[in-house]
Amino acid sequence: MLRPPETFATARLSARRPRADDAPAVLAAYANDAEVTRYLAWTPYQRVELLADFLRERAADWERTKTAPHYAWMLCLRGTDTPIGSIGLMPDGRKVMCGYVLAKKFWGRGMMTEALRHLLDWAIAQPDVDRVWAYCDLENSASIRVMEKAGLAREGILRRWHACPTIGPALRDCVVCSKVK
Ligand SMILES: CC(C)(COP(=O)(O)OP(=O)(O)OC[C@H]1O[C@@H](n2cnc3c(N)ncnc32)[C@H](O)[C@@H]1OP(=O)(O)O)[C@@H](O)C(=O)NCCC(=O)NCCS
Repeated sequence: MLRPPETFATARLSARRPRADDAPAVLAAYANDAEVTRYLAWTPYQRVELLADFLRERAADWERTKTAPHYAWMLCLRGTDTPIGSIGLMPDGRKVMCGYVLAKKFWGRGMMTEALRHLLDWAIAQPDVDRVWAYCDLENSASIRVMEKAGLAREGILRRWHACPTIGPALRDCVVCSKVK
């Protein structure tokens, strides 16, 4: 089974396992921001307790050995321990999907490209992985650009594939990108 490193670092970022006590910092940095969640599968958190529950689940995923885990890392500026974003890998057999989110204050500096490229390069180099991939809303231009800059190639459009509850209940079109062996 795929076992990613629990920590990693890039030029400007360090990544570590989530903790329930990250909740107040994550809420303040991005989890309560409707602009951040616009194209995500969740709506802004209002209560720190619910966010702490979610982070506790992600922390527990690192201990699970049987069910399909969602390996999540908190992204911090190097030399600090305060989360400014998150990135995750979701293995499914020989395929690995990636998702990511960053606080608005840090958008447009190439930071998510840096983190995503690092993780995707690690994942595709694993002998038991044939495909790494990600998808995002067709209107999420910044995320499409990040996928391409991080080394994924655009495969196509999944029509009416996911809901963005911050926008509304209707399923929306997505762009899917991948790198394969
Ligand atoms: C998507 C997201 C992670 C990007 O992070 P980031 O660190 O700002 O990304 P980068 O700086 O590495 O790259 C962003 C690229 O998108 C481009 N971009 C930003 N806004 C854009 C827009 N509205 N239209 C077109 N391109 C845009 C930037 O110019 C940059 O490309 P460039 O280097 O060629 O100029 C961040 O915006 C985010 O967290 N959004 C909310 C959560 C989200 O949507 N996550 C993805 C879900 S699949």
